[in-house]
Amino acid sequence: MGRLEGKVAIITGAGAGMGLASTKRFLEEGAHVVAAEIADEGLARLRDLPGCTAVRANIAVQADVDELVATAERLGGLDIVFNNAGIMDGFKMAGEVTDSIWERVIAVNLTGPMMLCRAALPIMQRARRGVIINTSSIAGFTGAKGGAAYTASKHGLIGLSRSIAATYAPDGIRCVVIAPGSVATGMELGGQLSQRALDTFKKTSGASPRGSDPVEVANVAVFLASDEASFVNGAVIAVDGGWTAF
Ligand SMILES: NC(=O)c1ccc[n+]([C@@H]2O[C@H](COP(=O)([O-])OP(=O)(O)OC[C@H]3O[C@@H](n4cnc5c(N)ncnc54)[C@H](O)[C@@H]3O)[C@@H](O)[C@H]2O)c1
Repeated sequence: MGRLEGKVAIITGAGAGMGLASTKRFLEEGAHVVAAEIADEGLARLRDLPGCTAVRANIAVQADVDELVATAERLGGLDIVFNNAGIMDGFKMAGEVTDSIWERVIAVNLTGPMMLCRAALPIMQRARRGVIINTSSIAGFTGAKGGAAYTASKHGLIGLSRSIAATYAPDGIRCVVIAPGSVATGMELGGQLSQRALDTFKKTSGASPRGSDPVEVANVAVFLASDEASFVNGAVIAVDGGWTAF
């Protein structure tokens, strides 16, 4: 019996990186995954996975969000939402960020997750259960040089999540945040971000510096989505190898 047996989960940005690793782990644990992905290559990775319903969706578009939720309901309900999709901002500093970068990053990293939470919460309230996992970042805790829009979006997502956690606990709904450190995915711009991140890590942390495998984040998501985490609500879980522990 899997730890997510019989649950229906929406995972966004499911076609690559931590979203793909999480989709595979959720499927192994018995969930049915509605896998939301914007890119063709990502959708191709999802199509043949048993138990997975791949849906082309831009999570920054309300109609696409509504279609994801409708798909989950057709499959029997909506137990888990995992807002994983996110984009970078080219490390633009606050003094140089353009309107279009700001709007796009906030739309995908903050407004999209809000729209999916807003659509899912009434369903979860009726069922009197549900779990929402939102992926922030260690950039949700601290600032760094550049990355103003990304940092603002990831700070904002923690605030949104805490508000949901505090508001909906009486309905049996949990909302938690995963804050990854440096994870080996496509987002790392062919390794540049990884190197930059690890250089910073070495300067600022006494912990052993390495990037993580996406499955190390996916395993945390499985736990948080499962009933084993029944009393974990409103928590922000760093999955960063100790980066922010100093
Ligand atoms: N990689 C890291 O080191 C790192 C560190 C901290 C936080 N994060 C966060 O973790 C999450 C996952 O990151 P990743 O590294 O796995 O990313 P990734 O770029 O490897 O994969 C993200 C996936 O999301 C999809 N996507 C992008 N915009 C979308 C949209 N509007 N609608 C639907 N799908 C969309 C992409 O096509 C891609 O398949 C993001 O929220 C990211 O900000 C990543």
